[in-house]
Amino acid sequence: MPSKHVRQNRKTWDFMAAGYQAKHGERLTERARAWGVWRIPETEIRALGEVAGRNVLELGCGAAQWSIALAADGARPVGIDLSGEQLRHAREATATIPLVHGSAEELPFRDGSFDLVLSDHGAMGFADPERTVPEVARVLRPRGRFAFSVASPFLFMCWNPKTERVDTRLHAPWFGMRSEEDEQTIQFQLPYGEWVGLFRDSGLEVERLIHLRPRPNATTTYTDYVSLRWARDWPAEDLWVVTKPAA
Ligand SMILES: C[S@@+](CC[C@H](N)C(=O)[O-])C[C@H]1O[C@@H](n2cnc3c(N)ncnc32)[C@H](O)[C@@H]1O
Repeated sequence: MPSKHVRQNRKTWDFMAAGYQAKHGERLTERARAWGVWRIPETEIRALGEVAGRNVLELGCGAAQWSIALAADGARPVGIDLSGEQLRHAREATATIPLVHGSAEELPFRDGSFDLVLSDHGAMGFADPERTVPEVARVLRPRGRFAFSVASPFLFMCWNPKTERVDTRLHAPWFGMRSEEDEQTIQFQLPYGEWVGLFRDSGLEVERLIHLRPRPNATTTYTDYVSLRWARDWPAEDLWVVTKPAA
């Protein structure tokens, strides 16, 4: 029996998929090789390294915009998503990339199957990191890389549940931060020190932590997420790059 957050998030994403793709799909397709809600180009961030010829797993692939772009760049991507409805959109967009209906918490792949695992606001914000990080470490090859973007802990703390907006006060404690439930989804977050401890305990090494800062004139289709002004002053989105050491 899947856990409560997996059941809840699957139901919500199945319900939201059509609206999500209608609102964001076109821009995600146009700016596929880019990170976060402001679509900051991978050419600036350089989180992935060489992708041609690499076996890549995308966690929480949605309509697989990232995977399709990586395949065009010579990678061999596989997408996994919890939501059958999100995957329906992915199947409409690609007939060649393998798409798996499943959870990032229980990856149906053999140990050491991938050179690169990535997730752009995908499963890593909605699945329990205590389960996903060891799973990613297991399916990565030695010298493999894991790059993922998530909402930052600052965004979690500054989320005002009364106004349902992010503001400039702290509304939640830093210590004990773990998951947050609204009417739709259950999302996960950890303080930075706990992320680092979890990577280390899973046999991974931190290479970089990038705060995705939008440009002053950046635009987004995720207009209810956080304001540009806020995201220019504080880290709204983080991009972790961690690696599995050589055997
Ligand atoms: C915000 S969407 C992002 C999708 C895609 N990365 C994009 O940028 O459009 C989050 C995705 O994560 C998926 N997801 C949530 N929990 C998951 C889990 N435990 N395992 C796999 N996918 C999950 C959802 O179904 C949804 O498609």
